Amino acid sequence: MLKGTFPTDKFKALTTPFYYYNIELLKETLNTVKTEAGKYGYHVHYAVKANANPRILSTIAEYGLGADCVSGGEIQAALDAGFPAGKIVYAGVGKADWEINLGLDNNIFCFNVESAAELEVLNSLAAAKDKVASIALRINPEVDAHTHAKITTGMKENKFGINLSQLNSVLDTLKGMKNVKLIGIHSHIGSQITDMSSFRNLVIRFNEILDELEAQGITLENINFGGGLGIDYYHPNHLSIPAFDNYFAAINKLLKVRPRQQVHFEPGRSVVAQCGSLISRVLYVKEGETKKFCILDAGFTELIRPAMYDAYHRIENISSDEAVELYDVVGPICESSDVFGKEVELNKAHRGDLIALRSAGAYGEVMASQYNCRKLPKAYYSDTL
Ligand code: LLP
Repeated sequence: MLKGTFPTDKFKALTTPFYYYNIELLKETLNTVKTEAGKYGYHVHYAVKANANPRILSTIAEYGLGADCVSGGEIQAALDAGFPAGKIVYAGVGKADWEINLGLDNNIFCFNVESAAELEVLNSLAAAKDKVASIALRINPEVDAHTHAKITTGMKENKFGINLSQLNSVLDTLKGMKNVKLIGIHSHIGSQITDMSSFRNLVIRFNEILDELEAQGITLENINFGGGLGIDYYHPNHLSIPAFDNYFAAINKLLKVRPRQQVHFEPGRSVVAQCGSLISRVLYVKEGETKKFCILDAGFTELIRPAMYDAYHRIENISSDEAVELYDVVGPICESSDVFGKEVELNKAHRGDLIALRSAGAYGEVMASQYNCRKLPKAYYSDTL
């Protein structure tokens, strides 16, 4: 069974569970993103929500990416990690006043505004500071992302963005506002998108919207396609860097860019997922009547994706090379949804074996909880272990 390369000997002394980050892979991924986006002059703002670990954030900031934030806490984390405020974009349907003020005080690049109601508040908070906030309207483009229902965002029934039918009335409202300046449009249709036709449909929709706006005499300097590029959870060892080349090329092929227009992206998962693993120990191998359970010391408190989205994560026994057997791999949390995988092929497992749950770099550590009074786990990095 092909497995990832891990310093298993060094792991033996560490308290499990913990997150392990392959910093070399992260850097290789960042180089690829920069090169591929750079071919077209595209701007990349890393979506902090995917992983806000300070070490990961500062590495990404060193590569010159901007940051996409969805809360005041994320804006602060991005600033602390060294992202320049001039490269921070801020989205979210429910921005609190203190969060908007934090963005205004730091003169962030752009607020991605999601409703007319938010626009009013932003305009008055900016007025109180005698500032003009740069904004992009987050459009709900009604483009199906063909992904899990819980991570689809660009359809009419989702809470995100301004519906196309309401765009003109929002533009009218904007005309009377002195403390906000429209500089762009934005969309994010969903996450873990592997079907490129969804992105193509988004570009086609953007071309239509930009044509319509131009007919009204409005040319926007910035177009932001959000994030969403999926990764290969089944083959983290072969396909550890997503096909950024195909992704940016597909957008570039269809997009009608106007002179002086800048194109932006907000990838999260595709940048950090494959460099992270959750490392856990086998507590017990329990022989059931019809199946065997491999019971780990990590549960959905450390990696919630399988329980929450029925997500697949590859599971490897990095301590054993014995013949493969089938196990239901489960955690210790007192809920039946605390299952990482059913009928998983694992090299024969014993108490104390180390188990790697792969592709956990995105939406792993950042979604950890202390349910059952568990401690939040530590993180270790390949270059400092
Ligand atoms: N921009 C906006 C406005 C977003 O809402 C998101 C993700 C992104 C960018 C980054 O998307 P990415 O490139 O990572 O797909 N917890 C879920 C994923 C939730 C994504 C929410 N928004 C999961 O574990 O699958």
